[in-house]
Amino acid sequence: MTFTDRFKETIALVTGAAQGIGKGVAERLAKEGATTVLVDRSELVLAVAENLENEGYTVLALQADLETFEGFESVVKRTLDAFGRIDILINNVGGTIWAKPFQHYSPEEILKEVNRSLLPTLWGCRAVLPTMIAKGGGVIINVSSVATRSVNRVPYAAAKGGVNAITASLAFEQAANNVRIIGVAPGGTLAPERVIPRNEMPQTPQEAIWYEQIIEQTKASSLQKKYGTIDNQVSTILFAASSEAAYITGVTIPVAGGDLG
Ligand SMILES: NC(=O)c1ccc[n+]([C@@H]2O[C@H](COP(=O)([O-])OP(=O)(O)OC[C@H]3O[C@@H](n4cnc5c(N)ncnc54)[C@H](O)[C@@H]3O)[C@@H](O)[C@H]2O)c1
Repeated sequence: MTFTDRFKETIALVTGAAQGIGKGVAERLAKEGATTVLVDRSELVLAVAENLENEGYTVLALQADLETFEGFESVVKRTLDAFGRIDILINNVGGTIWAKPFQHYSPEEILKEVNRSLLPTLWGCRAVLPTMIAKGGGVIINVSSVATRSVNRVPYAAAKGGVNAITASLAFEQAANNVRIIGVAPGGTLAPERVIPRNEMPQTPQEAIWYEQIIEQTKASSLQKKYGTIDNQVSTILFAASSEAAYITGVTIPVAGGDLG
């Protein structure tokens, strides 16, 4: 694949950049010319950034817990200290921690799901807006999921439904400030085995069955009856963040083989 320079002179911040979709987005943004800030709670983000730096790209790796407003605010501040502005924010942190029917979730687990898959996006939008408004505009991409209509992960679905509401309402409110907000909702996405697990505990045989039900439902809900690739997600996220999507805001684009979520 050849890379363009469509993000030249752009400062982009990507959350959850140590692995998976976030890592793919950060790598492509850097290769397409963006000065890229890679943020993650895991120290593995340092190696991802180092590899890009060794290839000659301009990157900065930051470690922070984005489930707190203070964590996100510190990331925005350190980025502004280093580069002076933020043009693009990719709110990518999220992912279901458990897979089971709703009656089996404890209240504590439900809160953890919301903390993981709703709050980092809510905090991210709040933390970055003042600087985007001050400099005359920007783009925020919120990574959602078509799991807003799915089985065995209702708290995650609720969190991503919240993400979709942030996208729609914030775009409505901030269009006058030249800030575009677009959601991208992946369907099932093939990825290498996670180095950073979403759940530290090993899966029980029952949980493995519930997880298998998710895979079956995901494939069945897709018109193409299959999982997509990380590249499928990255391409759409970069398109949405680019000036090619200048007349798109306030919508969530499903990237799921025809599953609308
Ligand atoms: N992979 C899929 O099949 C799929 C499908 C639909 C939607 N999505 C969405 O795409 C996004 C990325 O998914 P993925 O599978 O690549 O994720 P992943 O679980 O593989 O990686 C998430 C990254 O976020 C980091 N992270 C988690 N909590 C954090 C926190 N509090 N602060 C900072 N960093 C934190 C992790 O360390 C990790 O590097 C998520 O929002 C997910 O909900 C993924």
